[in-house]
Amino acid sequence: MNTIHIDTAVLQCSYEELSATDKQLVDEAKLQVKKAYAPYSGFHVGAAIRLKNGLIVTGSNQENAAYPSGLCAERTTMFYANAQYPETPLTAIAIAAFSNGDFTEEPVSPCGACRQALLEPEIRFQTDIKVILYGKNNCYILPNIKSLLPFCFGKENLEANK
Ligand code: THU
Repeated sequence: MNTIHIDTAVLQCSYEELSATDKQLVDEAKLQVKKAYAPYSGFHVGAAIRLKNGLIVTGSNQENAAYPSGLCAERTTMFYANAQYPETPLTAIAIAAFSNGDFTEEPVSPCGACRQALLEPEIRFQTDIKVILYGKNNCYILPNIKSLLPFCFGKENLEANK
């Protein structure tokens, strides 16, 4: 029997310590919370995705009276990016959340469904998507989506027994 240890290097820093490019992406994500449609949860999430061609695509969570029909900011933004630029790899995503009149003190991390959805373009384009999570007290930076989703299910699993 073996124990497998899964190591994830998460960089913790303040907003001020972010690089200029990461700050720019976080700033775009922070702007997006104003456009969220979140009347049911009151939890406004903004996301900004940097594409390999240099463009930044932004989005926010979009809720629905039939609760499960709504969509998180990360998937709204990622699907829009892939729909508009189907051949362009994604290189980074920044996420910020606003509730009860302020940005969250601690970073908000993508939900399980968003992690799975974001893994698809990372594998498809064979390009790491850096993850920058904003909180007033802390920011976290992860090197890629895979590090948020160990033991992930991807297209290799579908192809394994062919
Ligand atoms: N939400 C996001 O948009 N992204 C996250 O990372 C976490 C949750 C949204 C979904 C829902 O509209 C609201 O926040 C409360 O869960």
